Amino acid sequence: MANFVSRFNDEQHIMTLSDDGSYTAYSKQYKEHYHSTKDGALYESLVKHVEPAFKVKQNQDEITILDICYGLGFNTLATLYYYKKNNLSSKLNIYSPELDASLVQSLKDFTYPQEFDEFKNIILQLSENGIYDDEFWHVEIFLGDAREYVRTFPHAKFDIVYHDAFSPTTNPILWTKEYFRDIRNIIKEDGVLTTYSIALGTRLALYENGYRIYLNKGEKFRDSTVASLSILEQFSYVDMQHKISCNPHAKSLLDKEII
Ligand SMILES: C[S@@+](CC[C@H](N)C(=O)[O-])C[C@H]1O[C@@H](n2cnc3c(N)ncnc32)[C@H](O)[C@@H]1O
Repeated sequence: MANFVSRFNDEQHIMTLSDDGSYTAYSKQYKEHYHSTKDGALYESLVKHVEPAFKVKQNQDEITILDICYGLGFNTLATLYYYKKNNLSSKLNIYSPELDASLVQSLKDFTYPQEFDEFKNIILQLSENGIYDDEFWHVEIFLGDAREYVRTFPHAKFDIVYHDAFSPTTNPILWTKEYFRDIRNIIKEDGVLTTYSIALGTRLALYENGYRIYLNKGEKFRDSTVASLSILEQFSYVDMQHKISCNPHAKSLLDKEII
């Protein structure tokens, strides 16, 4: 194991075992883990992002996902795993921005859970070339700033947005009202956004852009948020007007407070 850890470690990251038995990493730069070590890296990806999104998005010929940010790639790879496990046949496109090029290059040496064994070739291609493409799946990593990416994304609109940045305290630029406005411009009217954050500031930044806010609740994981411009029957609705009246001083983050 020691060899494996030192092969992956690019000085900025330390591989860490999480409670579901899968490895995540600790970022020395952001001083945060990539996943909740309590919920577990793979489990968190599945229950906070992939499963709630696909509860809403089914029976389409083609599904296009924005995975913010690629990080260790769990949300992308867990989506492929979910596809295989459930024999989904719709064409899948995943686009994922990531600032840290050296992390992406080192992922070919990351110890992924055995559920991802069948994607070794995909992991290698994404790590080395930033792209994987076959008849059914297209996955593309953009090495650069997610804010710029969402403002200039040239392709079709998204069915699903996994919003999985470091926390609002650590990486506030990816949680502002303006950021979620830019996402609103590229998510479909019936699209679904998932995020682990249940902070009122995050929910306000979404709500003030016209998203409806829903609670994703389940066993053995902490609550998370699902948001959509449309009504979702699959989740319980969060009454934001009530939350605001109980917390009149709460506010969303603004770009000008950060930049
Ligand atoms: C919590 S991690 C993402 C975890 C990832 N979804 C996974 O499953 O492993 C956050 C990632 O955001 C990246 N990041 C931070 N700021 C960014 C930005 N402005 N644009 C793109 N990526 C950014 C970091 O380098 C880090 O890899």
